[in-house]
Amino acid sequence: ANKLGSKKERTLAMVKPDALSRLGDILETIHAAKLIVIKAKMTTLTLSQASDFYMEHQSKPFFSNLVQFMSSGPVVAMELMGDEAIGAWRRLLGPTDSATARQEAQDSVRARFGTDGTQNAGHGSDSVASAAREVEFFFPSTAGHGPSNTAQYTEC
Ligand code: TYD
Ligand code: MG
Repeated sequence: ANKLGSKKERTLAMVKPDALSRLGDILETIHAAKLIVIKAKMTTLTLSQASDFYMEHQSKPFFSNLVQFMSSGPVVAMELMGDEAIGAWRRLLGPTDSATARQEAQDSVRARFGTDGTQNAGHGSDSVASAAREVEFFFPSTAGHGPSNTAQYTEC
C-alpha cells in the first residue's frame, strides 16, 4: 500500500466487439478514472483463443454463445495500471448484464455501450491472479520477433 493506503495494481481490460466503435469514449472513461494504459493491442480472437480466454466458463450454458460473440470481430485488449485498478475497472464496467447496468449503474460502460448479458461492451479481470493470467494471454512475456511490448510507465 502507498501512503494513502491504496494499492497499485494492474488489470486486463478488453473492449469487446460490440463496443469497438466506442473505443474513444471508453478511453476517456479510463483517463477520467486516473487509470493508465500501459499496453494495448487490437486483435480478432479465433474461436479457440476465445475459448481459452474464457476457459473458466467452459461448462456454462452460455459458453458457446460467448465465444462465438467474442470472436465475431476485433477487440482491444489493454493492460491498465492504477490504484486498485482491478476493482476500479470492474466498477467502471458495471454489472455483467447491460440491462441490469442500465438500471443500477447508469453511467457505467456496460450501461452506456452494452446490449445484453452477452454483448456487454467490456471485460475486466476479477482478481490479481486472473489479471496476471489475462495480461499474459494478450501480452506474452516471451514475445518473439518485432517491436518489443515491454515499454511501460513506472509513474502516473
Ligand atoms: P462473468 O465472468 O460471470 O461476468 P463478468 O464479465 O462481469 O466478469 O461472465 C463472463 C462473460 O460471459 C460475461 O461478460 C458475458 C458472458 N455471460 C453470458 O453470456 N451469459 C451469462 O449468463 C453470464 C453470467 C455471462
Ligand atoms: Mg468474469
